[in-house]
Amino acid sequence: TEFSTAFEDAVRLSSERFNLINPVFWKLKRALDIGSEKQLRLAVSHVRDFAQSIVREKRQELDKKSSLDTGDLLSRILSSGHVDESLVTDLVISFILAGRDTTSAALTWFFWLISCHSQVEEQIVREITENPEAPIYDEVKNMVYTHSSLCESMRLYPPVPWDTKEAAGDDVLPDGTVVKKGMRVTYHPYAMGRMESLWGSNWSEFLPERWLEKDKVTGKWSFVGRDSYTYPVFQAGPRICLGKDMAFLQMKRVVAGVLQRFRIVPAMEEGSQPVYISYLTSKMKGGFPVRIEERVIEQVSMSE
Ligand code: HEM
Repeated sequence: TEFSTAFEDAVRLSSERFNLINPVFWKLKRALDIGSEKQLRLAVSHVRDFAQSIVREKRQELDKKSSLDTGDLLSRILSSGHVDESLVTDLVISFILAGRDTTSAALTWFFWLISCHSQVEEQIVREITENPEAPIYDEVKNMVYTHSSLCESMRLYPPVPWDTKEAAGDDVLPDGTVVKKGMRVTYHPYAMGRMESLWGSNWSEFLPERWLEKDKVTGKWSFVGRDSYTYPVFQAGPRICLGKDMAFLQMKRVVAGVLQRFRIVPAMEEGSQPVYISYLTSKMKGGFPVRIEERVIEQVSMSE
């Protein structure tokens, strides 16, 4: 819990730097070690200590073993010759940031959206219950409707709402915009997911069907992805998210596990709408209060 709080503080305080009119303010506070910058320094050091202890423990564990009989990522990184503890600690922190807050943000908005769209929830539950005993990989591969619903939910509520890059050298964008070395360019998945020119006049509707195509012969639905420049929720190009497939695997497993047995019912005041906020990754302001209800389902087939 302590680590979690420190991690959240570090993310919030560092992203709040971007909101200041002039970076001089935070730089001055950092130099004097006061206010939010002091809090940030303490939070970062807490996070680093924790990540470092994970690396040290793993290294000791590996030193005691003669062969690598564990498949976890950290063991593999350490056994592949990465000896710089500081670099490996950075990798651990990056993976926590990349893989923890993103999928949890995506699922929070997903569960809220399906709670307001009962027909979508019904379709997902049908898909899940259709093949409950299948092996993990096949089960997830066949969940095309759930996959589409997750893509659609992240179109409206992307876990990384905007992302800024700094030009390493002078450049000219395809539309002729000149970008000088050191200039910052921001792309905005939140805005792009809500553009009529990209998604049509029904862009504001939560419609998983926009990602699906029905085969005229078999009548089976298949997923139709959009190119990553139109849908840059995982970024695009050579630095596209490395964990994209893993993220979908995790999210679909969680959705299947939860919805198979439970209904997630918002426990908010009648008529109140959640507020989207962002500190590097998006959040629902104040969290998502829910009531968990046990689901009673009958086995139904998708073809019915
Ligand atoms: C819904 C879930 C996720 C979303 C929306 C997402 C989105 C993104 C985005 C936008 C970037 C680009 C960041 C930048 O360069 O500024 C990125 C990078 C990355 N993501 Fe994800 N991510 C998700 C889940 C994950 C998971 C589960 C992992 C792995 C555990 C992961 C690992 C990474 C890594 C390693 C990078 C850096 C890639 C590079 O710079 O070459 N992500 N992700």
